Amino acid sequence: MSEYNKMPLLMDLSRKDKFGVSLSDIDVPLSELPESSLLREDIQLPELSQLDVVRYFTNLSQMNYSIDTQFYPLGSCTMKYNPKINDQLASLKGFSNIHPLIEESLVQGSLELMFNLQSYLSNISGMTATSLSTMAGAQGELAGVLMIKAFHEKQSTSSKRNVILIPDSAHGTNPASASMAGFSVKSIPSDQNGNMDIDVLKENANENLAGIMLTLPSTLGLFDNQIVDICNIVHEAGGLVYGDGANMNAWMGQTKLGDLGFDVIHINLHKTFSTPHGGGGPGSGPVCVNDTLLNYLPGPVVQRNSNVYEFVEMPDTIGHLGAFHGNFGVLVRAYCYIRALGKEGIPEVSKNAVMNANYIMNKLKHAYDIGFDNRSICMHEVVFTARKQKQNGVKGLDIAKRLLDYGYHAPTMYFPLIVDEALMVEPTESESKNTLDKFIDAMLQIADECENNSELLHEAPHNTPVQRLDEALAARQPNLKWSTK
Ligand SMILES: Cc1ncc(COP(=O)(O)O)c(C=O)c1O
Repeated sequence: MSEYNKMPLLMDLSRKDKFGVSLSDIDVPLSELPESSLLREDIQLPELSQLDVVRYFTNLSQMNYSIDTQFYPLGSCTMKYNPKINDQLASLKGFSNIHPLIEESLVQGSLELMFNLQSYLSNISGMTATSLSTMAGAQGELAGVLMIKAFHEKQSTSSKRNVILIPDSAHGTNPASASMAGFSVKSIPSDQNGNMDIDVLKENANENLAGIMLTLPSTLGLFDNQIVDICNIVHEAGGLVYGDGANMNAWMGQTKLGDLGFDVIHINLHKTFSTPHGGGGPGSGPVCVNDTLLNYLPGPVVQRNSNVYEFVEMPDTIGHLGAFHGNFGVLVRAYCYIRALGKEGIPEVSKNAVMNANYIMNKLKHAYDIGFDNRSICMHEVVFTARKQKQNGVKGLDIAKRLLDYGYHAPTMYFPLIVDEALMVEPTESESKNTLDKFIDAMLQIADECENNSELLHEAPHNTPVQRLDEALAARQPNLKWSTK
């Protein structure tokens, strides 16, 4: 008998369960249990009353930061308020309890919802058709570039088109997606206005060009007014134009990317359409295409056939990129959000998003430099630079940390990479003037501290449950131990 079997057992073997069976009735000799499953020491479970547990977790939850309690100026992440009613609707049993393999005839309502959502998104983006199956912005990008690849391969089996052009201001997922699809990526620099350097584009518009991936507005929060020319140059060279539509709350209802010349775009439903971004999922990145790429859409797509809705595959489909039909709950939220806003409400969203960002930019531009300061108007987000503050030894990181003391989430830092000491602020459309004014006051006070009390910033945050962390260590070795302190 091993040492382990000699140890006192920590449970009562003779206690009978509700069927009158005790552990000692079960005919498994202890010696046959794997040693690794035997308890060797008492489990130190805390003895706490329910009230203590409730207080513990309530206090913990109050240390958390959430959009329900405070403002998130997190650029590029669109951490806006999403109406709670849409969560409730997505949780209705008729939606949340459907088995993905159920007969289509038994879930016609859900298919109708998907069909209508496809039409709404095609309409808002100015495209011919939409597939809802892709489950993240980056997966939508991958689907888009795979469609471009399939298109060129179908045009000519000896196609040499293996280059995708991407501006240097792009979100990191763009080059990653193009590279995953087997393309070689060429970066196009931005000019002094933050627009794409069109001369470099022209130099690369040749027989190797498969396409270009553009974000509109760019991650600098700027609208590139050469966009129609860019699409024409790429098309004349035989390439296709991919639009990263993740920043759609800047333009929906104001313009249509299909009308500007884009062939395929993806949309982040989990930024613009009522599912929070930044929570690590679930997400949804539908792809919308024009006639050129219609047949290549990833499956399945919902079609209506004399009032019956059914899943179909397009003739040249790039296939499925995930299991079943996409993240259905996110689709329900998006559908409800669009229906609630209607065609009057959708343009209001983008007007407010752009107005709020411009309000912040104008109130703060004398205190903080703007990344590309010769642009008088930004779109839904504004990129400041802590260039000026750096002269007093204060970095963008210090400013972001000090904002925590004032009760705000940090803005996005050091992105886009082409702006030194970038602080990227996206107020979103859902914040009131009152909230923006308080945030602006905090930023102005911090600008003053940078000049007169910079030490305060180096040690910030001072008022949070934990102060400055070794962030790489905290991410790699999180300390999640129980503590009653
Ligand atoms: C401009 C842009 N493109 C692509 C993405 C990628 O989306 P996801 O995180 O869902 O993969 C994001 C995410 O915020 C984004 O802001």
